[in-house]
Amino acid sequence: MSRAPRTFYLPAEATARALGADAVAQALLAESARRGEPVELVRTGSRGLFWLEPLLEVQTPAGRMAYGPVQAADVPALFDAGLGQGAGTEHALALGPVAELPALRHQQRLTFARCGEIDPLDLRAYAATGGWRGLDAALGLAPEAMVEAVTASGLRGRGGAAFPAGIKWRTCLQTAAPQKYVVCNADEGDSGTFADRLLIEGDPFALIEGMIIAGLAVGATQGYVYLRSEYPQAHRTFAQALRAAHEAGVLGDSVRGSGKAFDITLRRGAGSYICGEETSLLDSLEGKRGQVRFKPPLPAISGLFGAPTVINNVLTLAAVPHILADGATHYAGFGMGRSRGTIALQLAGNVKRGGLYEVAFGVSLREVIEDWGGGTASGRPVRAVQVGGPLGAYLRADQLDVPVDYEALAAMQAMLGHGGIVVFDDTVDMGEQARFAMAFCAHESCGKCTPCRIGSTRGVEVIDRIRAGDQPQHNIALLRDLCDTMVEGSLCALGGMAPFPVRSALDLFPEDFAAAPRRAA
Ligand SMILES: Cc1cc2nc3c(=O)[nH]c(=O)nc-3n(C[C@H](O)[C@H](O)[C@H](O)COP(=O)(O)O)c2cc1C
Ligand code: SF4
Repeated sequence: MSRAPRTFYLPAEATARALGADAVAQALLAESARRGEPVELVRTGSRGLFWLEPLLEVQTPAGRMAYGPVQAADVPALFDAGLGQGAGTEHALALGPVAELPALRHQQRLTFARCGEIDPLDLRAYAATGGWRGLDAALGLAPEAMVEAVTASGLRGRGGAAFPAGIKWRTCLQTAAPQKYVVCNADEGDSGTFADRLLIEGDPFALIEGMIIAGLAVGATQGYVYLRSEYPQAHRTFAQALRAAHEAGVLGDSVRGSGKAFDITLRRGAGSYICGEETSLLDSLEGKRGQVRFKPPLPAISGLFGAPTVINNVLTLAAVPHILADGATHYAGFGMGRSRGTIALQLAGNVKRGGLYEVAFGVSLREVIEDWGGGTASGRPVRAVQVGGPLGAYLRADQLDVPVDYEALAAMQAMLGHGGIVVFDDTVDMGEQARFAMAFCAHESCGKCTPCRIGSTRGVEVIDRIRAGDQPQHNIALLRDLCDTMVEGSLCALGGMAPFPVRSALDLFPEDFAAAPRRAA
């Protein structure tokens, strides 16, 4: 009697693959063939629980059971233990029902609900899990009503600046022009961030759906995705998703048979941090050297090729289908203050359980880092945390009770940015980190304005003098003066914010700027 195949789910996402997922996949297929036990293997995106990757899931009558981190060599023993037949729960790698994993139970997954659940390129699975519901709702609405829904949801840009998406969309909608564009910023350059990549590799149709809705809302028929070159797998997956969406009539001259046109072109960046800044990105898309433009005009009025352009981050756009499908009120029901909905926190650096945590705004940084992240990977005390990428201020371990909320962090001269959280233990040298902030700015500066182009290079030199014990009082005053000049006089946030990590290091960790810096035992 032939047995019905068991269904296994295993990520094909880049981190899981780097940790051995492809070898596990091969071992699963080989072992099932050897035993004559048929298996259906679905390669999914990642749930973002990196310490458990490769995370194998098996469909059972009691739901999906998780095993991890699995290596190819574990596969025969997992089969021996009765993997997926209601047994196998005794195996050392058995984690129990996926839905009950502590790291997932505490999350509110809206944007990332499908990541890890389905084959990212399976259109049927996408539709069966609520895909296109938002788009279908949008197709029945006037542009003004779509913009109103996004405004009422309270959605703010997830790329870093947290600007209200609805206001940006309204400006573009109200600017009359024969051609408009929607541009998706997938340059994801911030240190410790990977949420855009996880979304594109794990649920690319959600981004496509969000971009189409944005196009319908503002009157744009053409979209561009600007993807960083360091994401080759995301590039492959998204290119395949675009082809599939075309073949299914989702993209093209008549979106889902509506008679309304929208198309998307995928472009690759060339590894420059400043090309994540929206106006540099537009120059780069136009085939020019990526340099920051003066504002005004805003891109929503005069953006790509001089046409009105909505430019949003991947996660901003991927949140939109949910808002149109389940209503602005539902989305706005998550969060606190002016930070509505959910935020994809990316926990990285020296931390035990690094990965993606999508949660409603309002959770404290301490809960994220200590309870969920498990503290440092080294087991040493947390000393510093940088939130919001390389331009974000450092926080001290005693400041981590701050809620994850744009305004609460801004009140501490810090920022949430794209949601990257990088943890350092007590061996970190904060003088070195301050130097890195200036060196990074010097390396990535587009060169258009003096405070950033020259100031960052001088900043490195001054920090070196301080750390060499050369007139420290005088040079610290000079460094602070230089930081003020960069903050006040830079054209964009690269030069304007690089001083924030420097100032916070000076204020919170002054002992690390001494000629013989404090060193942990
Ligand atoms: C130096 C610099 C780098 C940036 N890099 C990114 C990036 O990689 N991805 C991104 O979405 N936004 C980035 N931004 C923010 C964008 O300029 C812009 O605010 C964003 O694309 C708007 O989309 P949103 O409103 O959906 O966040 C960067 C800004 C600066 C100043
Ligand atoms: S601050 Fe730096 S990156 Fe920004 S425009 Fe000026 S030189 Fe270019």
